[in-house]
Amino acid sequence: MKKKRKINVFDTSLRDGEQVPGCKLNTNQKVEIAKKLEDLGVDVIEAGFPISSPGDFKSVQEISKSVSKTIVCALSRAVEKDIEVAGKSLKFAKNPRIHTGIGTSNWHILYKFNSTPEKIIDIAIKSVKLAKRFVEDVEFYAEDAGRTDNYFLAKVCENVIKYGATVINIPDTTGFCLPDEYGRKIRFLKENVNGIHKVSLSTHCHNDLGLATANSLYGIINGAKQVECTINGIGERAGNTSLEEIVMIFKQKKYLNLYTNVNTKLISPISNLVSKHTGMMVPANKAIVGFNAFSHSSGIHQDGIIKKKETYESINPKDVGINNSSIILTARSGRAALNYRYKKMGYNLTKNSLDLVYSIFLKHADKKKEIKNEELKIILKKANLN
Ligand code: KIV
Ligand code: ZN
Repeated sequence: MKKKRKINVFDTSLRDGEQVPGCKLNTNQKVEIAKKLEDLGVDVIEAGFPISSPGDFKSVQEISKSVSKTIVCALSRAVEKDIEVAGKSLKFAKNPRIHTGIGTSNWHILYKFNSTPEKIIDIAIKSVKLAKRFVEDVEFYAEDAGRTDNYFLAKVCENVIKYGATVINIPDTTGFCLPDEYGRKIRFLKENVNGIHKVSLSTHCHNDLGLATANSLYGIINGAKQVECTINGIGERAGNTSLEEIVMIFKQKKYLNLYTNVNTKLISPISNLVSKHTGMMVPANKAIVGFNAFSHSSGIHQDGIIKKKETYESINPKDVGINNSSIILTARSGRAALNYRYKKMGYNLTKNSLDLVYSIFLKHADKKKEIKNEELKIILKKANLN
């Protein structure tokens, strides 16, 4: 049997996630989330971008003191001062990592830096060399790698490996790639970069086309060892790869032979915590953690679910920390769901009573989005059944 491959989970909710307008977290909130991320079992916590503000510096410092097993990572640009400040912020971390890098696509080289590919390689080397003075574990990001020419990207990788980078991040910064394209990029690097066996490749995908999770998956299938993601998929613009989605894909699709150290039963509680502290509501239809992810409202589905859950659920809600799926009563619900809900309330209706109650229920339901227990009692009264 093929050996299972461990994928390292790099959570960037506190850095890329927190970059979302209005998501600002204070140090206490960040520390609270970081501790829960450690309990969840992520391998790396990107704690912040220390040069960006004194508050973020403090948050990285406090998180460094608060977690013990997990790697604490600080972001920097490929700028001397950034790297020095990142290094200082990690002084108390038991397992520190600096994440430094620079844009490598022509868009970035020409328009952001007004520079040349040769100069970019020079800056990349200098940044890794400097970061190594502070920490052993240095991750290099080739920003906008999704739109970077693969041959140039390979050259950048080869150079940062020579100077001691331990992880190379291949961000699809603008969410530009298709899964196959991103997967081929990772494969190309695995096959064409001298010394690639010395580093782990990391995926970092944005969701501009709704493909962040699919792209990360294809990057991993093609050889990446680390996935960068956020709780609830929060992040710049349309967000980042959702931690809960990628982790549950590995759990559900056993034949992929991939696993993480994440305790999936803690997914729902941390999703609620991140939503509460960032003020970012989780869309009801969000995979895994949305309110409707395990709710059933149409008659056909409800009938199936009541007979056997697996008819309309491929994921066990208990696996992600949700006790039970719910049967929501709407005008699309059928007798089976209504009977099920009355039974849960302690009423056993005969077939004739159920027929009568159902006809009254439909009149109520046509005027409302959802019928709750209080209204079910009123319906019983109207049918003279209580
Ligand atoms: O999306 C991106 O390119 C980033 C880098 C800073 C890693 O977030
Ligand atoms: Zn990003």
